[in-house]
Amino acid sequence: MKTPQVKIVEVGPRDGLQNESTLLSAEQKASLVNRLSDTGIRHIEAGSFVSPKWVPQMANSDEVFSLLTRHQGIHYAALTPNLKGLEAALQAKADEVAIFTSASETFTQKNINCSIRDSIERFVPVVETARKHDLPVRGYVSCILGCPYEGNIPHAAVIEVVKQLLKLGCYEISLGDTIGVGTSKQTKLLLNALLREVEASQLAVHFHDTYGQALANIDQSLDAGIRVVDASVAGLGGCPYAKGASGNVATEDVVYMLEGNGISTGINLQDLAHVGNEISNTLNRRNGSKVGMALSSRRIQESTALPKTS
Ligand code: HMG
Ligand code: MG
Repeated sequence: MKTPQVKIVEVGPRDGLQNESTLLSAEQKASLVNRLSDTGIRHIEAGSFVSPKWVPQMANSDEVFSLLTRHQGIHYAALTPNLKGLEAALQAKADEVAIFTSASETFTQKNINCSIRDSIERFVPVVETARKHDLPVRGYVSCILGCPYEGNIPHAAVIEVVKQLLKLGCYEISLGDTIGVGTSKQTKLLLNALLREVEASQLAVHFHDTYGQALANIDQSLDAGIRVVDASVAGLGGCPYAKGASGNVATEDVVYMLEGNGISTGINLQDLAHVGNEISNTLNRRNGSKVGMALSSRRIQESTALPKTS
């Protein structure tokens, strides 16, 4: 298979399910990850090793990892806020881990109970230990285009945290519009400023779609040279420490846009839409993917059409 032109990082089983009120069993979550891996997705965040008191939805991540049907070439990642989380991720045989902080002081405090500076210090041994085990470390910076507590976030704050995470040894930084407030012009201005300091190949984008701006922002990011996009099947989820944040941009919508624009993703859209419908039914929630909904209503129309008589 040809290397896809854009890498999709599927975050639904983590970012999605961490914010759903319906708790899924480890078997149900592993089945979701396995189904996603059958669609051609190569990078899946399968869970997070955080405090179960803070995010109960992720409490069974170790079991989820143990139940995965692993395939060669598929990277199963986990979020690790500290050494305890990293040790659990190593035990679970995650292929990659992600550390996460924010460009907003208040959000960092609410999300991981420390300052930005302390979070970076906390990550030093996490990255060192991950390195010893040849485990790639990704970094997340939340609130790049706005914070639920502080409002506007200066570009300088985002650039500073991105540079610190790269210096620590993260191979890639995912830029999170955690509450989905940014617009395409704001995205462009931030990326222009960032790309004066770091390479586009070191960045990924992670847009939540609260205000319906995610696809436009992704398009803008592609124009800026970014080739890694985070997305969540059926637009699942949000962040428990960012009130009002809706799910990530739906993976189906991103794949439809990219493939329609002649940019390969390596993902089978029909199969992905099936998975999106199934997980929405399981969670008893509306499918958050417009493309998923459109494909599903087309299928219903086709299956109920009368057979032609000769
Ligand atoms: P803390 O309370 O300051 O931690 O939480 P502590 O070190 O004082 O420990 C307190 C208790 O937690 C202890 O247990 C520890 O053992 C336990 P106790 O003695 O009370 O029974 N503990 C842990 N348990 C399991 N796994 C661990 C762990 N660490 C400590 N790793 C901490 C600090 C960071 C742990 C906590 O704040 C936390 O878990 N926060 C995670 C919040 C979270 O997961 N948020 C959502 C993910 S971020 C996100 O969604 C944004 C993103 O998508 C990008 C974007 O959209 O912008 C990535
Ligand atoms: Mg997120």
